Amino acid sequence: MTEAILLVGGKGTRLRPLTVRTPKPMVPAAGVPFLSHQLARARAAGVDHVVLATSYLAEVFEPYFGDGSDLGLHLEYVTETDPLGTGGAIRNVASRLRSGPDEPVLIFNGDILTGLDIRALVDTHTTAGADVTLHLTRVEDPRAFGLVPTDGDGRVTAFLEKPQTPEEIVTDQINAGAYVFARSVIDSIPEGRPVSVERETFPGLLEAGAHLHGMVDSTYWLDLGTPRAFVRGSADLVLGRAPSPAVPGACGDRLVLDGAEVAPDAKLTGGTVIGAGARVGAGASVDGSTVLEGAVIGEGARITDSLVGARAVVGPRTLLHDAVVGDGATVGADNELRDGVRVWCDTHIPAAGIRFSSDQ
Ligand code: GDD
Ligand code: MG
Repeated sequence: MTEAILLVGGKGTRLRPLTVRTPKPMVPAAGVPFLSHQLARARAAGVDHVVLATSYLAEVFEPYFGDGSDLGLHLEYVTETDPLGTGGAIRNVASRLRSGPDEPVLIFNGDILTGLDIRALVDTHTTAGADVTLHLTRVEDPRAFGLVPTDGDGRVTAFLEKPQTPEEIVTDQINAGAYVFARSVIDSIPEGRPVSVERETFPGLLEAGAHLHGMVDSTYWLDLGTPRAFVRGSADLVLGRAPSPAVPGACGDRLVLDGAEVAPDAKLTGGTVIGAGARVGAGASVDGSTVLEGAVIGEGARITDSLVGARAVVGPRTLLHDAVVGDGATVGADNELRDGVRVWCDTHIPAAGIRFSSDQ
């Protein structure tokens, strides 16, 4: 097993306040573009050929990752003119694969952070003699995912993408977004039109009697679909809860990148990342947050579970809690921003412009 397809296209991103210029897979998590973690983990599992299937902003991936040789990979890029959906994107890159018809090909959703044992997924696939093997995980609320019930042998019995009614919620096992496909199954996906692997390919295969196998694995798993999840994932990478060979430095409470200036009495905790050239002022505290390159955190600011974009400025004593401040935005002194608020790129909020608590 040597090759993989990484899906990084589609409807884009809910990280928009930051990603007007940077597509989500390139937003830094623990100091490097998120995609680096997936690529490094695939490499560590023995993958040496990766095809990046994308439908947007392809021009930002190639200059950064090049031919993949820095990562020990052979990396290729395929860009869809119009988004082809997950299945269409997979089919669209089939001609780039080198595997024979019965050989396993790995496929990853590009927005998942996980400690999945990739080799174990391939072994399960081979042992079961499956056509497709899916990594499954258990979540409390499965409604935003693909539900995948299995029988006692691990054989998939149904695939229900984004269930709409309570009756459809038949399991808490969900599609975790990593698959092993037999190459021949990839070739059988219709070509040249949008196809959803979740809504068309998997249900169709089951109906045709194909063997879909599920491997339930309760290792670290996070869908980085929201800014809140993205910040959490970055912190978990720094803390070492989410394993990745691409974290640039030792795991611990904080990661301070080259050229960042942190005042001696500033407190950085909970997997906080301070990007290259960023500055953190005296008495500031930053917990479980990501501060991107060149950003400035003012004296006495208190930042929790938040994302501060590149070159953004957070004024003195300002409080951020579960907030996203877009690249280049300026939040003046004594503001209080909470509860999922998103400040768009380059926006300016004057001093004491927004508060939740009393005016004291
Ligand atoms: N190239 C390409 N073209 N990639 C696409 C396209 C497309 O048209 N559409 C989606 N993708 C990529 C996305 O970039 C993402 O990496 C992956 O395919 C899944 O698409 P999402 O849009 O993120 O789907 P989701 O999060 O709602 O649901 C998917 O992931 C869940 C796990 O996080 C499904 O696979 C669910 O079944 C699954 O539970
Ligand atoms: Mg997703």
